[in-house]
Amino acid sequence: MDLVGVVVTALWAMGPAYVPNNAAVLAGGGRPIDGGRTMGGSRLLGDGKTWRGTAAGTVAGTALALAMNELAPTVGDVLGHSLPRFPLLAGIGLALGAMLGDIGASFLKRRSGRERGAAFPGLDQLDFVVGALLLALVVAPGWFLATFTRPVLVAILVVTPLLHVVTNGIAYLLGLKNEPW
Ligand code: CTP
Ligand code: MG
Repeated sequence: MDLVGVVVTALWAMGPAYVPNNAAVLAGGGRPIDGGRTMGGSRLLGDGKTWRGTAAGTVAGTALALAMNELAPTVGDVLGHSLPRFPLLAGIGLALGAMLGDIGASFLKRRSGRERGAAFPGLDQLDFVVGALLLALVVAPGWFLATFTRPVLVAILVVTPLLHVVTNGIAYLLGLKNEPW
């Protein structure tokens, strides 16, 4: 596969993992997952990780995977590349995994004394990628290995942080997020 094909495949395959965190920003609020519990004097996760945001993100990412399956033939024709389809489990794995990766990062942020909203460069940009890929590997291993070849994985690790910085910057400028990360 040529470079463009690799990047297009990487972006398409990660679509259901890119959307959940943004959907959570729009839909978040309400009861925090940790119920206010603390560990060593800091919140377990914090008020930024809610049940509603997590559910909304997971549903949005899964719904996107199903919608992308319908669009794949047309978009693939236009781009001149065949695009991966998402079995339902793969879609759920990518979406829920992205949310869990972000939640795991909050846990680590609180343990390292960072308040809600504090930046953790590197972790902020890749937590959801690692979560999404790991859960997809567990729930849909055959699909994962066929889709995420080594070049595609490298493209994901290079392109995602750039995309994350840009989308969060836009969300911040639009007043949807309190911090630009
Ligand atoms: N959000 C949510 N549930 C999630 C993830 C995000 O409700 N599982 C919502 C919250 O309103 C959160 C906002 O999306 O404040 C922005 O998400 P994020 O930047 O991940 O959270 P932070 O508030 O920065 O908290 P943390 O420092 O724990 O990451
Ligand atoms: Mg944040």
